Amino acid sequence: MSVFDVVVWRAGKVRMLDQRALPLQEIYPEYTSAQEVAEAIRAMVVRGAPAIGCAAAFAVAVEAFRLAGQGTPASWAEALAPGMAALRASRPTAVNLVWALQRMAALLGTVEPDRLPERLLCEAEAIRQEDIESCREMGRLGAAYLPMKDDRSLTLLTHCNAGALATAGYGTALGVIRAACERFAQVRVYASETRPYLQGARLTAWELLRDGIDTTLITDGMAGHLMKTRGVDAVVVGADRVAANGDAANKIGTYSLSVLAARHRIPFLVVCPLSTIDRATPSGEGIPIEERAADEVTHCNGQRTAALGVKVFNPAFDVTPAELITALVTEKGVVEAPDTAKIARLFAG
Ligand code: MRU
Repeated sequence: MSVFDVVVWRAGKVRMLDQRALPLQEIYPEYTSAQEVAEAIRAMVVRGAPAIGCAAAFAVAVEAFRLAGQGTPASWAEALAPGMAALRASRPTAVNLVWALQRMAALLGTVEPDRLPERLLCEAEAIRQEDIESCREMGRLGAAYLPMKDDRSLTLLTHCNAGALATAGYGTALGVIRAACERFAQVRVYASETRPYLQGARLTAWELLRDGIDTTLITDGMAGHLMKTRGVDAVVVGADRVAANGDAANKIGTYSLSVLAARHRIPFLVVCPLSTIDRATPSGEGIPIEERAADEVTHCNGQRTAALGVKVFNPAFDVTPAELITALVTEKGVVEAPDTAKIARLFAG
């Protein structure tokens, strides 16, 4: 499996793969403050819910080291508050961001003030490692859940990028695809382009091809025709936030795919770690949906493609209702037809 450092700690700095430059360039900018990382998250240097959570965790650690360089603050909570607020505001839908910040904040006051930066760094590293392990487990469980046909071939459709690039490594939906490659005789993947930011065309295609996985690119509008004429065994996607009842926010276009999958009786799998499940939000109606700049829709590669003066609606995510989700794949197990009670049991065990 190809390896790249999505978010790592390197010589006192946060180093991230700049996903804006992919697939043409592989560059690794480094960051030395929480504000810088918050801006990088907002600008999509790093994206994908678990990867954003990891970046935020390392950002808190780097901020603590930066502040400690000026002398140990009288109150760490006060000193770290502006950086944490900037991180929290950087992207609103991916709940892993808030989850990671809460985990880091829980450490304040638990160790001697001088030792806090080192402790925060250990926690950020633990979040990163746990995410990789969760992805591998979700991959194993998800691949075992996928339907096995007599010829042991498998055709999957995925949307956006829920891969190694969107996590600390291995990926959620793409982790299932990676694990499926070990189980099935032949795996074919259709990746939807993912308008307007093209995570499918730029990132998923790049990542899967690096691993030698048979990948075919389609534009988003081709999915229904693909399902009708070529056959898809399952749709496999990630999530940015799953509500307590199983409604799942993911990249814009996911909801349309779930409706099409239901129409064609194709299993629809949402793959995400427990850190993506927001039990404080009862249903999808409560999930904040990020709206992004109009030029993502009106322009392509800096070139205007839309009529001058046209109005734009650019929600970055949509919500797939739990009733359209065949199964939710987590590191703690596969939940078929997810609902509030079944999701609560995941956290109990
Ligand atoms: O806007 P993005 O690229 O951050 O959106 C990412 C997605 O929608 C992913 O599918 C989701 O975060 C799951 S990542 C494992």
